[in-house]
Amino acid sequence: MKNKTVKSALLGLAGVALVSAWALTPTTAEAAGAGVKPPSQNWSFNGIFGTFDRASAQRGFQVYKEVCASCHGMNLIAYRHLQQIGFSKEQVKVLAAEATVIDGPNDEGEMFERPGRPSDTLPEPFENKKAAAAANNGKAPPDLSLITKARSGGGDSIVRFSIAQPGGFALGADYIYALLTGYDDPPEGFDVPDGVAYNTYFPGHIIAMANPLSEDAVEYTDGTKATVEQMAWDLSTFFAWAAEPELEERKRLGVKVMLFLLVLTGMLYALKRQVWSDQKH
Ligand code: HEC
Repeated sequence: MKNKTVKSALLGLAGVALVSAWALTPTTAEAAGAGVKPPSQNWSFNGIFGTFDRASAQRGFQVYKEVCASCHGMNLIAYRHLQQIGFSKEQVKVLAAEATVIDGPNDEGEMFERPGRPSDTLPEPFENKKAAAAANNGKAPPDLSLITKARSGGGDSIVRFSIAQPGGFALGADYIYALLTGYDDPPEGFDVPDGVAYNTYFPGHIIAMANPLSEDAVEYTDGTKATVEQMAWDLSTFFAWAAEPELEERKRLGVKVMLFLLVLTGMLYALKRQVWSDQKH
């Protein structure tokens, strides 16, 4: 009798968990606004043991720097953070020094220019949002620091990211990859005004960003062939890291917690057997 009650209670709990997982999973429409659902990709950072492919993230940074940074800032990323994707301290110093930073005021009360330092954030391409919009047909290019999170459809809910949808954050990377490879001719009869482009995966299909990638747009320092797909892939990995640099640490902690719970369960089970055993001492 008692056993039965426990069993139904457990079943009930499992039911509640399943239903909430289903309810919290983003729907197609949510995941990409009203656009077409981006196909899921097999990212290196998927799954509970997944990690960021360092070489790919570094290539992604190169493409960002050479192609995207003229329009998009990444104001949450400092040069020193790039060490996390495998750049050495020296490389970071060199990368930072390539940028010109406005600092000050100095003792004379004037702003001055100096080479970037590892603690500086990546440079902003425009003075302000208005200037950014004015230079881009009225649409300001968004900051890309958190873009994979912002387009994952799940908001910031910890439940969505960790429990209901272990791969939830990957949706954002799927979308970026689909967007960057999704420029196409519009279907028959679809009117695309001047100054904007047609994109299969952008919600509403009309995007104020011209296709930023073309074959060999960069020359990869590691010799990888710079196809559009390759660059889109590397950028998506780079943005996924930028948005969730603590992802690997969180997964490691998650695995440790699961192991701990497993061991604890075993110990409690052994204890229960001992306490309830019929042995006379
Ligand atoms: C010439 C300027 C320019 C360049 C270069 C550029 N973009 Fe954009 N980008 C824009 C503008 C403008 C928008 C806003 C589009 C809109 O809302 O219609 C945008 C939007 C985006 C978005 C957001 C799409 C969304 O779902 O809202 C992403 C992601 C993006 N760009 C990535 C990139 C990447 C990656 C590169 C480099 C390969 C790049 N962009 C290069 C101007 C640019």
